[in-house]
Amino acid sequence: MLLTREEMTFDFEGGKLDPVRDKAFIEWSMNQFLYGEMTGIQVGHWLYDAPDLGAAKFLARQSLEEMQHVDNFLRIMIMMGLKPQKAHWAVRFLSTGMMGGSWAEHVALEMAQGEGFVLMAFYATIDTLDHKPSTDILRRAVKQEERHVEFGETETRKVIAGRAWLRRRLLGLSLVSMWGVRRLAAFMGKRMPKDHPVLRHLPAFLALSNRCAETRLRRIGVLDRPLAELGTMRRAALVAEAYGGKALGGLLSLVTLPLRLLPFWPKKKRLTDVYLDDPHVSGFELPAGEPAEARDPAA
Ligand SMILES: [Fe+2]
Ligand SMILES: [Fe+2]
Repeated sequence: MLLTREEMTFDFEGGKLDPVRDKAFIEWSMNQFLYGEMTGIQVGHWLYDAPDLGAAKFLARQSLEEMQHVDNFLRIMIMMGLKPQKAHWAVRFLSTGMMGGSWAEHVALEMAQGEGFVLMAFYATIDTLDHKPSTDILRRAVKQEERHVEFGETETRKVIAGRAWLRRRLLGLSLVSMWGVRRLAAFMGKRMPKDHPVLRHLPAFLALSNRCAETRLRRIGVLDRPLAELGTMRRAALVAEAYGGKALGGLLSLVTLPLRLLPFWPKKKRLTDVYLDDPHVSGFELPAGEPAEARDPAA
């Protein structure tokens, strides 16, 4: 990876998430992660689009790993007495509704940046969650996520070589997602409890995520100078250029989004829509012989 674990680590000053006191927040977070892993089914789309055999083999393996990660989160949820529930609409929209439109967008925005962002959330969970059986599972899974991010970085480098227009386009699209993270940080800054040992740090954690995203863009070669040196007009021009070809489709998808989230809106149901009713999810059980300390800490 182009960034180290240290660079992607936020200092929570020893703050911990308590499985009993913070159950509601932990349950919410785990459900967003569970949905994110379920979107691993989308790897199939990109496998069909893979530019070479090496990439195809990587994606075939990745899809299997993401499906194993689904089970990881189901295990964690059972151990901590948490219920699988619907993910937040914004998470569903960002990871499924805004799927990349090309191989370049997929590897740059979804794998290098998107999975890079999720990886930081995994690191933060490992560092703060006070439930060792769960953090042990996450510690093993992050090794695979690190490889997914690395693949995204390497493939992005390949695909932008000699294509200045594509670099500008990917930068413009990245600026929009970084703007989204800043908005989220501002929203959380007003709502997170100021006296909670972990949650009070979330806006600063998101700010670090954006600094890491910028560093990654520079090391990949998408960005050739600090973002602060790009003026407002230059940034606006990059975003406008990136969205130029997408404007109509983007506008349409925004207009129809509230409708598409309604249960009766006709569309093909995918696993990301129905996984909560899947018997594998609803009837998930820990393997026999699971150590007693790995079970619900509140039980
Ligand atoms: Fe995963
Ligand atoms: Fe992944």
